[in-house]
Amino acid sequence: MQQKNKNIMDYDTVRLDDKNDAVVIIDQTKLPSSIELLSLKTAQEIWDAIYLLKVRGAPAIGVAAAYGIYVLAKQIQTEDYDIFYQEFVKRKEYLDSSRPTAVNLSWALNRMLNVVKEHKAETVASIKEQLRQEAVNIQVEDIKVCKMIGEYGLALVKPGDGILTHCNAGQLATSKYGTATAPIYLGQERGYGFRVFADETRPLLQGARLTAFELQSSGVDVTLICDNMSATVMKNGWVDAVFVGCDRVAANGDAANKIGTSVVAAVAKYYDVPVYICAPTSTIDMNTPTGADIKIEQRPAEEVTEMWYKERMAPEGVKVFNPAFDVTDHELIAGIVTEYGVARAPYTESLKEIFSLKEKSKFI
Ligand code: MRU
Repeated sequence: MQQKNKNIMDYDTVRLDDKNDAVVIIDQTKLPSSIELLSLKTAQEIWDAIYLLKVRGAPAIGVAAAYGIYVLAKQIQTEDYDIFYQEFVKRKEYLDSSRPTAVNLSWALNRMLNVVKEHKAETVASIKEQLRQEAVNIQVEDIKVCKMIGEYGLALVKPGDGILTHCNAGQLATSKYGTATAPIYLGQERGYGFRVFADETRPLLQGARLTAFELQSSGVDVTLICDNMSATVMKNGWVDAVFVGCDRVAANGDAANKIGTSVVAAVAKYYDVPVYICAPTSTIDMNTPTGADIKIEQRPAEEVTEMWYKERMAPEGVKVFNPAFDVTDHELIAGIVTEYGVARAPYTESLKEIFSLKEKSKFI
């Protein structure tokens, strides 16, 4: 379904269509030239949408999976709890296999599984209703969390600053505000006049197609650069801070994000520019000790050799290495901006403190 004459910021990245029992997403592979909505109903459609990056970005994947498993659970025709449970787990595991790096996917699906376990004594119909509520909660929380990340991030910069970001950790990667873009959007509302540099982000161009698009649509001063230009803009003194999102933060503060993030962080260290990783606690995985334990998704060679080009731009048969993410070592990170504040080194301690604040807090 193609949409016309509306601003991209007026669309929900992901939403539940109760009337048709479907998950509706913006097809991000079609942006920025065309805004198309997709209505997903089957396990295969939801899996493909996540794998093919029609919906992408760690928090948005989590929300899509939560609504997705609810829609699939509704299709299970039984009154018997044990049968329902087995069928639910099968579908949950299938969705969980779509992408390995962003922990929000399994985090959201495990929250949904816990609902099934906790309400064992109830009817299947009632469990289905609780699942719907939990998926809605996950999305509502995502909006609040991103706003708080924006507040804490905004306190790290000043009006007129230059900010560099990589990939898309914007509204299109979440339910609103984004994570890395949240300080930018809040700053925009408050007249901070930031100058933003968006890395194009090879090979899938999330920076060019998505970040530049949504920031420009919001009236933010954004300049698109190729990935190999970050040293130049930093050397020119145009960048005061780097804000990026992430897909999984390990317990020691190592952070997996879109491939190329660690290059930006290494360059930023050289030019003395602080790098802030914007991460909801749902992206922090205390069960993963270090970045070396994070599974990095490998993607097809075609994304590098021919996608986006009219004709193939590499010799047939050439070997291609195409990891979707890299790990930025915690030594390169100035702070991890969460909804409970900014964690600083040593992260093994500060991340634990963030989780103990979360436990004590009534915020979410
Ligand atoms: O492969 P993608 O487009 O899903 O990668 C997305 C990123 O790396 C984002 O920076 C990350 O998921 C954080 S989104 C708030």
